[in-house]
Amino acid sequence: MNFLQLNDNQLIKQANLINGQWLTSNNSITVYNPATTQTLGEIPLIDEQTLENAIGKAQESFISYSKSTSYDKSLWLLKWYELVLAHADDLAKILTQEQGKPLAEAKGEILYAASFIQWFGEQIKSDHGLTLADPISGKSFATHKHPVGVAALITPWNFPAAMITRKAAAALAAGCTVIIKPSELTPFTAIALAELAQRAGFPVGAINLLTGDGAMIGKKLCQDPRVKKLSFTGSTQIGKLLFEQSASNIKRLSLELGGNAPFIIFNDANLDAAISALMQSKFRNNGQTCVAANRIYVDEQLKQPLLAKLIEQLAQLSCGNGLTEAVQLGPMINTTAVAKVETLVSEAIAKGAQCLYQADTKQLGANYYPVTLLTDVTPEMAIANHEIFGPVIAIQWFNDETQVIAQANASEAGLAAYFFSDNIHRCQRIANALEFGMVGINSGMVSHAISPFGGIKHSGIGREGGHNGLAEYQYIKAHCYAQLE
Ligand code: SIN
Repeated sequence: MNFLQLNDNQLIKQANLINGQWLTSNNSITVYNPATTQTLGEIPLIDEQTLENAIGKAQESFISYSKSTSYDKSLWLLKWYELVLAHADDLAKILTQEQGKPLAEAKGEILYAASFIQWFGEQIKSDHGLTLADPISGKSFATHKHPVGVAALITPWNFPAAMITRKAAAALAAGCTVIIKPSELTPFTAIALAELAQRAGFPVGAINLLTGDGAMIGKKLCQDPRVKKLSFTGSTQIGKLLFEQSASNIKRLSLELGGNAPFIIFNDANLDAAISALMQSKFRNNGQTCVAANRIYVDEQLKQPLLAKLIEQLAQLSCGNGLTEAVQLGPMINTTAVAKVETLVSEAIAKGAQCLYQADTKQLGANYYPVTLLTDVTPEMAIANHEIFGPVIAIQWFNDETQVIAQANASEAGLAAYFFSDNIHRCQRIANALEFGMVGINSGMVSHAISPFGGIKHSGIGREGGHNGLAEYQYIKAHCYAQLE
């Protein structure tokens, strides 16, 4: 089967979806498989005029789409959900080939992506405003929710499916039309999802998808007043730029930006559970997640047992092409990503970190970085202050609870944090003290469709998923009724 084919033999188009039409362009971008560096296909490099037209069409469609009933929107979303499930294996294959994560993990992402469509498809039917207690005699108040308008969704390469549905399903449930701009590194999963959404019966123009130069598209989407909402997942650096570019329109923003998650193992932790969660958090998507355990703090009393158990588990990890069965870690997305991790690791070693384990991936090619274990990392090292975004465990030892919490909080990032302890009092104390949007307590995973995902400080604004995710695409209007005699 062609990698761009769904199981009904229809090819996924290498094109953009604008107002129900699949369009190509004169210029294109080549998409590669990071595992093999072979070409997968071409996608349009959209020009500014086409983008201008697409925004106009999305605005026109908003006029009718925003009036759809909550039952209609729910039906379209739940049909889309069913189609994603029915094509989960094909979608996973597309995802693995353009992103690199192993097939089983890619299938997991497709199911995770589908869960957002289901969640918002169900939530919209029971979403309601409030009637407020009468504060003044003869007057009453009620709140109504309205879709904000055209929503632009800029999504990253590390989760080519789930980051689209977490935004798009919420926006479509709220009654917004959407313009999706997937990463040019991983556009085909997005195109396949948009194709399935079309088949689910969404009205023409409700879902639009564009590919091309991120800087040009991002700036235009920020500065065009017809786009009322921008939701972006990606680096803090780009998030700040989009924030600035959106200022003149006072655009509604959701920014899900970088993390630098502390993962703290206290001396009263269940060590086996902590190590298993650390492996899961660190090696999901080969370390390329914004919620990955990044700064690993371990009580120094646990040094010997932790290292012995951890090295044993690291040695069992298999790395390679994600389509090969039993592979647990795929390639990095590209050589730039590899070079960044290499620099962080070399700098840490030059400053005194110990490299206690490093796998050998040389024969796999330039896009692979070996699983690495560093200890004796200190807060001054760059590796403790940047998202590693790769398969490197960097451990700092500690012996004082107050000090380790101060260190964990001493970061501009505030996305996710994790800690392990068997003491309920400590669990409550630490969960309250950590300054992060999401805290895993004896858990290495914090993501679920039902729970709000997002950060504080430089990790962004807004929440995705859960009850809060829908509100990001709505504004509240208060009605004040006076009772006339
Ligand atoms: C991300 O790393 O960008 C998202 C991870 C998640 O949703 O769990």
